[in-house]
This record gives sequence, C-alpha cells and structure tokens, in this order.
Amino acid sequence: MESVIVAIDGPSGTGKSSTSKAVAAKLGLSYLDTGAQYRAITWWMISNGVDVSDAGAIAAVAAKPVIVSGTDPSRPTITVDGVDASGPIRTEEVTSRVSAVSAVPEVRALITELQRTIARGAEHGIVVEGRDIGTTVLPDADLKIFLTASPEARAARRSGELKGADVRATQEALVKRDAADSSRKTSPLAKADDAVEVDTTDLTLDQVIECVVTLVDERR
Ligand code: C5P
Repeated sequence: MESVIVAIDGPSGTGKSSTSKAVAAKLGLSYLDTGAQYRAITWWMISNGVDVSDAGAIAAVAAKPVIVSGTDPSRPTITVDGVDASGPIRTEEVTSRVSAVSAVPEVRALITELQRTIARGAEHGIVVEGRDIGTTVLPDADLKIFLTASPEARAARRSGELKGADVRATQEALVKRDAADSSRKTSPLAKADDAVEVDTTDLTLDQVIECVVTLVDERR
C-alpha cells in the first residue's frame, strides 16, 4: 500500500478526533492527535507551577517535558516524562488554559518539530489532526480536510462527550477557545487554500468517515 499523509484540521467539536481515528484504523494508517500534545505540555506547566499567563515563563521551560505520542488509532496514548497523561490532559483546567500555552511561539516550534518527526516515521502513512496541520506542520500533505459545524452542533456533541455538561456553557467555552486559536499570531487555526471543507453539522459520524475515506482513496 502506498504511504499517504492526511491532515485534518478544524475547530473543536467538529468530529476531528473520532473521524481521524476511524479513518486511520480503516486504512491501516497511524494516527496523531496534536491537540493532545498541546494539552500535555499545558498539563506539565500547571503541574510544575509555571504561570501559564506568562508567555516568557512558558517559553523558558518549554523544552523540558518529554512528550511521547503513541500512534495506534485503536489505542492512542500520550506520556509526559514517562507518565500516562491521557486522563489529566482532559480536565477542565487544562482545556481552559491550553490556548494560552499553545499560542507561545517557542511551544509551537518544539511541538511542530515533534509532529513532523512522527509523520516522517509513519511507515504506511498517517492521519494527523489539529488546527494548523495543513497550513504549517505538513503543507505537503496528500490530502487536507477542514471540518466545520455550527456552534450549536459542536456544543451539543461536546457536552454529550462530557456526560451532560451544560450545553450553553460548553458553547461559550468552545467559541472562546476557537476565537483564541484563530486569532493568535503563530500558525492560527485556519483552512489551507487547498483543503477540502466538510460541514459536518447535518452528517452522522459514519457519513463523515465515509466521505474522508473516499477522498483518501481518490488521492492514492
Ligand atoms: O484538539 P483539542 O481540542 O484537544 O486541542 C486543544 C488545544 O490545542 C486547541 O484549543 C489549541 O489551542 C491547541 N492546538 C493547536 N494546534 C494544533 C492542535 C491543537 O494550537 N495543531
């Protein structure tokens, strides 16, 4: 099978993770959740008492944590300094702080390099999901997808995942995080000019997966 690199970007709650994992599993590709890496470095900063509102303080220690991502789509893992971080990176505290940490250029430079190394090493190809994969991390990807959905649909999905969290509060937090991610100076959340935009508002997850699998097949 020919190796293929797929970049899937878009705001929170558009189904990026579920779609990316399923597409990678179906096509025998590796999978990388780049949001998990930014969450992991954020968790490390909080755990080590770094003031995450101070970009200088973040930049000074950004190279310290060792972040390792497992790329099996059926069992993605993430460790920080050898410790399993998959639970702690999903807390409310990390979610509310991650945009500030991910906006720091030194953090982005380090994590981007890590992502490129992982993508280069994926023998059969990889599905990489994030915010700036098609624009910055892997501008030569074979296929770029930009997933969108209405804020209402995204909030409803996210609050379902968070087991019944208040939909309105979830929507507010989500819109705020997307605004921060889209307006930062260094590689903001953006659609690459050559990305295929898929609006998932009225699609089931299976329909989105099928759509992306078809697009990958067309490129191989
Ligand atoms: O995808 P997820 O919601 O886990 O991403 C968490 C955060 O990581 C985003 O809100 C964004 O601040 C950051 N991120 C990023 N670039 C990426 C992936 C995620 O800045 N490629």
